[in-house]
Amino acid sequence: MKLKYLIFISVVSWLFAIKANAAGQVEVLHWWTSSGEAKSVKVLKQMMEQQGDSWKDFAVAGGGGESAMTVLKMRAVSGNPPTAAQLKGHDIQEWGRLGFLTSLDAVAQQEHWDKVLPPVVANIMKYNNHYVAVPINVHRVNWLWVNPKVFKAAGATVPTTLAEFFVAADKIKAAGFIALAHGGQPWQDATLFESIALAVLGSADYRKAFVDLDMAVINSDKMVEVFQQFKRMKTYIDPQAEGRHWNSATEMVIDGQAAMQFMGDWAKGEFAQAGERPGIDYLCVPAPGTQYQFTFNIDSLAFFKLKGTEADNIAQHDLAKILLTPYFQKVFNLNKGSIPVRLDMDMSTFDQCALDSMQAFKQASLSGDLVPSFSQNLATTADVQSAIVDVVSEFFNKTDPDPILAPSRLAQVIKSAI
Ligand code: BGC
Repeated sequence: MKLKYLIFISVVSWLFAIKANAAGQVEVLHWWTSSGEAKSVKVLKQMMEQQGDSWKDFAVAGGGGESAMTVLKMRAVSGNPPTAAQLKGHDIQEWGRLGFLTSLDAVAQQEHWDKVLPPVVANIMKYNNHYVAVPINVHRVNWLWVNPKVFKAAGATVPTTLAEFFVAADKIKAAGFIALAHGGQPWQDATLFESIALAVLGSADYRKAFVDLDMAVINSDKMVEVFQQFKRMKTYIDPQAEGRHWNSATEMVIDGQAAMQFMGDWAKGEFAQAGERPGIDYLCVPAPGTQYQFTFNIDSLAFFKLKGTEADNIAQHDLAKILLTPYFQKVFNLNKGSIPVRLDMDMSTFDQCALDSMQAFKQASLSGDLVPSFSQNLATTADVQSAIVDVVSEFFNKTDPDPILAPSRLAQVIKSAI
């Protein structure tokens, strides 16, 4: 009896050992560290663990992902890249060209990615016609986040144009509130600039300037106006903005210190985490003057060639597969503030901000008003993007910058980065 029991125990432990060996590990590099972002990424970790795989978190704080990219380069160059990393747009092509990314075609075929994804998104995920990255969501960048109680207390009206913005901001300031919550970091300066550029230039010229890099638009009178309006924004921001993280600025709108914030809809994740209700405790409205336009930011994970075990390779495919499942698309995006990237999702559990975003996305793609966000690295190469961000941020942080000179400086640095 005792012997039988021992044999039974050893068979069970042996089976467990096989299962443990079979389980692989994924290491995922990302910069989702705010409370809404962390909640979103936890869903992925849990789903991987439910499959029996283990999750090694590789989070590098810093909105916009600049620090994450630096760390990724170091790891990749030393021959030890993670399983997957948060990479976007042109960066995916760049890493593909350098030979670091692995093909996901087997998973893509099995899961019919070509059918469930909009072709424009699928193309961004492919290098040399092979899937090397998986999209997760669509973020709209041109949003304004509003605290309606502050507006009410100041007797101000929620703006729909830039002119109305300045009227409202003056009233709010006079009533003793901070009109504009802002984080003084270069990528956030660029995020604000981008929405103003979209309003002033319109979609066609925005595209010419930041996608086609057309010098006639970059160095134009209209661009002078963009810098003029941008400069005016500074007068509505508090002096402590320097270095502030984007989610701390969102916090200021949540707790009623500030009235508004220009930020992509990842900000909604922070409102949700604070228990705020859209349409009641906070409002999401298009950035002034950009009602029918949509600057898109697509989060995606790119997949690296691994030197790990067979189990790790299987886990890598498990991860790729999970990202586009309807369940993950729903739960992740509900927490993250974005809309799903799959075309066939049931949106009935999403809130009004997400429904508005989806509607604007569909309309803008028909009207030609769907444009890639340069501040979030979707419009151009990393070199050109960082050149634009440098000029914009340097301008915004000078004591009395000259909007007339700024466009020629912008043209000059873009030319040298092309
Ligand atoms: C990413 C978002 C993220 C935001 C702030 C953006 O660049 O696309 O997913 O929430 O940065 O960290």
